[in-house]
Amino acid sequence: MLALADAQKFEGLALTPPMGWNSWNHFGCDVNERMIREMADAMVESGMKDAGYVYVNIDDCWHGERDSLGFIHPDPERFPSGMKALADYIHEKGLKLGIYSDAGWTTCAGRPGSRGHEYQDAVQYAKWGIDYLKYDWCATEALNAEGAYLTMRDALFAAGRPVVFSLCEWGNSNPWEWGGRIGHLWRTTGDIYNCFDCVKDHGSWSSWGVLQILDMRDNDLLRRYAGPGHWNDPDMMEVGNGMSVSEDRAHFSLWCMLSAPLIAGNDLRSMGAETRAILTNREAIAVNQDSLGIQGYKHAAVDSLEVWVKPLSGNRFAVCFLNRGRNATKMAFTWRDHCFRDEHSGREADFSQATYTWFNVWDTSDTGSTRKPLKTIVPGHDVLMLVLSEKR
Ligand code: GLA
Repeated sequence: MLALADAQKFEGLALTPPMGWNSWNHFGCDVNERMIREMADAMVESGMKDAGYVYVNIDDCWHGERDSLGFIHPDPERFPSGMKALADYIHEKGLKLGIYSDAGWTTCAGRPGSRGHEYQDAVQYAKWGIDYLKYDWCATEALNAEGAYLTMRDALFAAGRPVVFSLCEWGNSNPWEWGGRIGHLWRTTGDIYNCFDCVKDHGSWSSWGVLQILDMRDNDLLRRYAGPGHWNDPDMMEVGNGMSVSEDRAHFSLWCMLSAPLIAGNDLRSMGAETRAILTNREAIAVNQDSLGIQGYKHAAVDSLEVWVKPLSGNRFAVCFLNRGRNATKMAFTWRDHCFRDEHSGREADFSQATYTWFNVWDTSDTGSTRKPLKTIVPGHDVLMLVLSEKR
């Protein structure tokens, strides 16, 4: 065991936004070891692993009971072979295993939380070979969020196995202000819902569509806290869970522009070709995984479209034209009337002075130059996403 005073976050673990899969959005509480193994198989066979996805994360409801000494065990019916065997299976595939707990007395689905057992749980996870911990915020009463997450950070560090630490506190206590020294990503909002533009009322709480999540926080403020090793997390993805192809493409593109963790939430075993093509689009993923880790920002609104910009390495920029409306919109974007000026990163592209060439991320045969105005039609609930390189 390391001395407590030396405790810190495991550095170097999420230098680009984490990529993986999580059980919650599609399966809810219905998790078991066979399904998780099959998901790992599908991650490899579908090309997701080759595209960069590595974490297979079990969300809520894997838990059984604590033993007489207080150590947690998985539900023996759902995980009869135990977590160590599951972690071994996943590691043999070159993937990593994530698990879920909660800072309070119980998880959001009423399973045992880690409160009062933080060090024991961290030791147990390390023994099992866990690589990623999502740590939720239900049943926390008056706990101080920063303190509670710090306790678990220290416990993970003391246990000695490097773990990506995902803070799931929904943005209630401004985790972007203190999360960077504690974890590798922090949720900025409540839960996502599988729709592009709606609010789902659950009675005492709500979950949120893609546009609602996009608008919920002050992105210009939050993006200053994101960077290699510490990311804003607008929640796991709903791609492949029932939205239209356009909506899924727009959702994925925006998460790439925002340097969001790319955690798929669909059934990888049965996804169709269109879903797979979205989740494995290499150019979009390269925007998300760019080494500079600069979170994108809204540059302007033009012709009822929003123009999002993300500075990239190599003096490149990603540009995403988002049509928030249901109807297709004509667009005429005169580059030379625009200058991308990002005070946060100090990056600038002045199209009245410099020329950039571009390609379309979703159809790489579609290319052009900023010399000419961009005239096109963007379908409803869809995007046009480009990568620009300076012409010398
Ligand atoms: C909370 C989290 C979700 C999910 C559920 C599980 O709502 O925000 O992402 O983990 O709990 O119960």
